[in-house]
Amino acid sequence: MNETLRRSLLYVPAVDPAVLAKAPSRGADVLVVDLEDALHPDAKDEARAGLASLWPGLLAASGEREVFLRVNGADTPWHDADLAVAAALRPAAVVLPKCEDPGSVSAAHQRLGGIPLMLMVETARGVLAAAELARVDGVAGLVFGAADFRKSVRARASADELELLLARSGVVLAARAAGIEAFDTPWFDYRDPSGLKASAERARGLGFDGKTAIHPGQLAQLHQTFAPSADEVARAERVITAIEEAALRGRGVATVDGELVEALHAVEARRILARRAAALRRDPAAPRSG
Ligand code: GLV
Ligand code: MG
Repeated sequence: MNETLRRSLLYVPAVDPAVLAKAPSRGADVLVVDLEDALHPDAKDEARAGLASLWPGLLAASGEREVFLRVNGADTPWHDADLAVAAALRPAAVVLPKCEDPGSVSAAHQRLGGIPLMLMVETARGVLAAAELARVDGVAGLVFGAADFRKSVRARASADELELLLARSGVVLAARAAGIEAFDTPWFDYRDPSGLKASAERARGLGFDGKTAIHPGQLAQLHQTFAPSADEVARAERVITAIEEAALRGRGVATVDGELVEALHAVEARRILARRAAALRRDPAAPRSG
């Protein structure tokens, strides 16, 4: 099983060459070079123009880790020029913000000549259209954004993020129904490790594959939360063994830790093992418990 490992997606504003040059060494699974909301409107043209010369170095330093490019949305004056640069640079994926209309996503896909798209679902309309957005050709994942979402629905930020639950679940459902990945919002208080941990655990519990980040200090937590723990791995191994032994006796069910398991549990268990293997390949020195 070939498991893509995108536990952490770190936004890096495209504005400062020194920050960009350092970004690959931070260890994120994915870098998202940002032309959108991290940049002042007056800085956008210069940042876009500077990317061509910075890009090869960024790719070389990133090695196997992916580099995405977040462009400005379809209803902004920068969208066309951003797509033109994206089409030339060919990042591993283009992140389209504030997606609401499958037609404009399709148009971006045509212009980008096959570069996979990650769609940000971060407005009321976007959440309601998520299932259709996820099915547009070329879409490889959905990315939730809480800042824009809260603004869109006039929600108040709360510590338990309850105001996000419906939207987050909607994003995961739409992604899974289309067979693509789902990534969660950043945790914006980058000096709050316990808030980050709780937010990441909630997202993992809902089914997200990884979480976006706004600070390198958030990555270790995301790598821990979005990779299987030692307990999960051990249980997955027990499930697979039990189902295989049951099958030899012509039975479809088995008992693991006092619970009934079926072949469907073995499928998920194999996915967990594949993800663990991918995490170990990426961070061979990482502790095996977690
Ligand atoms: C991210 O783009 C957000 O709006 O939270
Ligand atoms: Mg946003």
